[in-house]
Amino acid sequence: MSTTHERWTPHFHLAPRKGWLNDPNGLCQFHGTYHVFYQADPAWPAPGKKGWGHFASRDLVRWEDLGEALMPSIPEDADGVYSGSALVVAGSAPNGGDLLRLYYTGNVKYEGDHVHTGRDANEIMVTSEDGISLSDKEVLLRPEDYPSDLTRHVRDPKVWEQDGRYYMVLGARRSDDVGDVILYESADAVAWTYRGRIESAHPFGYMWECPNVIQLGGRDYLVVCPQGLPSEPTRWQNLYQAGYFPLSQGILETTQVDETSFVELDWGFDFYAPQVFEDEKGRCILIGWMGMPDAEYTSAPDDLAWCHCLTVPREVTVGADGLLRQWPVAEIDGLRGFAQPVNPAVGAILPHHHADIELLGIEGDLEMGLDGQLELSFSASEGLLRMAFADEKAASGRTERVLPLSAVRELRVLVDGSAVEVYVNHGEAVLSTRWFPTADTLLVTLHASCESAHSWEMGGEPPRA
Ligand code: FRU
Repeated sequence: MSTTHERWTPHFHLAPRKGWLNDPNGLCQFHGTYHVFYQADPAWPAPGKKGWGHFASRDLVRWEDLGEALMPSIPEDADGVYSGSALVVAGSAPNGGDLLRLYYTGNVKYEGDHVHTGRDANEIMVTSEDGISLSDKEVLLRPEDYPSDLTRHVRDPKVWEQDGRYYMVLGARRSDDVGDVILYESADAVAWTYRGRIESAHPFGYMWECPNVIQLGGRDYLVVCPQGLPSEPTRWQNLYQAGYFPLSQGILETTQVDETSFVELDWGFDFYAPQVFEDEKGRCILIGWMGMPDAEYTSAPDDLAWCHCLTVPREVTVGADGLLRQWPVAEIDGLRGFAQPVNPAVGAILPHHHADIELLGIEGDLEMGLDGQLELSFSASEGLLRMAFADEKAASGRTERVLPLSAVRELRVLVDGSAVEVYVNHGEAVLSTRWFPTADTLLVTLHASCESAHSWEMGGEPPRA
């Protein structure tokens, strides 16, 4: 019998050994090495301040835990080194080599409501020539550099290069409680000039966090995390959302988006603050936080010493409909070990909760249960896919999520300790959730009509310190 701690520890999802994790930050590949920084509060559950933790890998599956990379240390980030992004600039280092620039929001709190008063957001940069040792912090933008009709909520710089110039988007909350994105431009990625804003035609939540830009297949997509959308039965089911606007013009020409075009990136309970980057193979890779701010459900039951994890790296592509598809990067397939057929009419018993279950050529309705605790069901007549918890302890407060879909043809379920990602129709939709199983073995029950069903035992190990 394993301890619950061991059973719930993911092997191929990044999680801290101790303390708290939220948003992925500074994602990049620099000199071959993948860097995943993340919002970390190492003191958690004791009160602490956010900084950046750091994982690195050469292959996206074997990770090294490099500990704390950035913590509050100057007046401009006194209450938190908040989220941000990475930019690799070729030939920009003093010795002519490549330079990694990391941008983040320094959070400062004073007396006040922390929305309209009592908060400063500073955009700050550090650089690195080796991806590990970081320069001193340089403050690039201060509160007086933002439009005057914004609240004190401005953050999460995403920086990219386009046609020899640099651009930065920041998420913001306007004084009239409407979320938007502000855009800056720079010739050197250091000195920034305000260029304009991107707003929705009609208000779409009170705050947009963590903006990102995806440029794929000749089209631009603006990713944002809107807060304050009212929950509906088949959309906006989480407290806050994460999704994108497919843009009809380039990002730099866009001042307004049609909020009815917003597409959610994930339909599970635990997904927020995704970031993308382009790796050296030219792939667009997305990693999200498998968590939800201010959620009522818990991700550290039984006094687990760590809280939250990230999704696996997902390759983003564009489907024939112009919408985005997400699929675990091919490196994850390399973790597949012993393969076991799964009987479509019955299911299978798997030795542990590290598995990759794949169903191909599905027709009609489907029911899949994991330990009788987490249930997936598709009803073709309703056109709905449901993910529902049947066990309170395993759910830790999670209930049900519903996704409208005309058909389920393929299903891939990654189970990893206490993390589950469900990929539908080769990434047309994804549902990510935490699940805290109470058994050692994994009982998969299945009622489906499909051409093939297999499960692989998955390898992988938690990051090495
Ligand atoms: C999103 C977020 C960001 C912020 C960070 C602080 O989860 O609220 O907007 O930078 O978390 O940890």
